[in-house]
Amino acid sequence: RVHFNAAHRLYNPAFPEDWNTRTFGVCANPNYHGHNYELDITVTGPVAPETGYVLDINVLKRLAEEKLLDHLDHRNLNLDVAHFRAVNPTAEHIAIYCWDVLRPSVPADLALRIRLWETPRNYVDYEGR
Ligand code: NI
Repeated sequence: RVHFNAAHRLYNPAFPEDWNTRTFGVCANPNYHGHNYELDITVTGPVAPETGYVLDINVLKRLAEEKLLDHLDHRNLNLDVAHFRAVNPTAEHIAIYCWDVLRPSVPADLALRIRLWETPRNYVDYEGR
């Protein structure tokens, strides 16, 4: 589990202001709002006989830091992360983004699951489909 703080605004520029307000409520407020995101990264697969690990936790931690947290933590997702200039930064889209970014760096024989907590009561899971 890793953690990041970030600001965002839910907004679809293809639709008028009143549609965005109706659809996203206060999440569409123009001056952004913040979340304390918790990101659970789960890998599953065989235990390697030579190490006794599925994957060295330090390798996974470093991947999360370099590939995700360095770019997401204490950022404005809409403005600072190129991907979200064109993609509405909902929890769903952030989870998919995290999976897509990590997948190429996780050994191909291991399954990858992302659980993104946007609030302590609200999470989304993504496993690549
Ligand atoms: Ni929000």
